[in-house]
Amino acid sequence: MKLTEEQIKSNWDEFIGYIDTYISEPRKNALKAFYEKYAERIALMPAAHKKEYHNAFPGGYIEHVNRVIQAALKFNQIWFEFGVYKNYTTEELVFSAMNHDLGKMGDEQNEAYIPQTDQWRKDKLGEDYKFNDKLEFMSVPDRGLYLLTQHGISYTKNEMLAIKLHDGLYDDANKPYLMSYMPETKPRTSLIFIIHQADLMAARIEFEREWFPKLYGENLENKGKGSTLKSDKKTNIKTKALGNIKSEGLKNVMQDFFND
Ligand SMILES: [Fe+2]
Repeated sequence: MKLTEEQIKSNWDEFIGYIDTYISEPRKNALKAFYEKYAERIALMPAAHKKEYHNAFPGGYIEHVNRVIQAALKFNQIWFEFGVYKNYTTEELVFSAMNHDLGKMGDEQNEAYIPQTDQWRKDKLGEDYKFNDKLEFMSVPDRGLYLLTQHGISYTKNEMLAIKLHDGLYDDANKPYLMSYMPETKPRTSLIFIIHQADLMAARIEFEREWFPKLYGENLENKGKGSTLKSDKKTNIKTKALGNIKSEGLKNVMQDFFND
């Protein structure tokens, strides 16, 4: 996937538009100043370093974040229709979605993802980017919260928890927050689950968009209504598709799909 310069610019304008629309003063100014300071870096960042992950191309980060914001606003409506208590505000919802992956930018001096220089890793492992080893280790949520604090951007407890826990139970460190069985120690805001759900869906859609056309070509049907693959064509496609995948990890994933 490759975004044009116009798409990158328009995604950036959309992103800044969410600050204008949903974030209130006084932190609106600080947040805008932060994003304007790092505009070029953030607008061009990928969302991941490896092709098999999601949106690992220039501009992929903001494209992903915009999708998470849109999805969070939609999921918010669905949860509300199903009777959720409004234990968070719309501003908290958008702020959390907007900054959930901020830690992926790295720190003030060092970008987290830099172009891969090892041709073998590019070809065999699909890594167009690599982690910058000048950067001290921090989890993505921790670094994101640290960056906000360092730039004088305040956040509420709900926002802190939604950003911290956005990977849900995919991150073992989140278990004490999410696997409590005592009513009084369970999360007190549904915002955590809505942001996780929005991020999960966005990342999955980005993965499908990148890989399904390569794997199934003209056999993809009903895009947008749940893609389906004609079962009688599965066997023929299997050999071709699996033969084209270089990553062993992805091969295993797709092998499971074909075995279903
Ligand atoms: Fe994300």
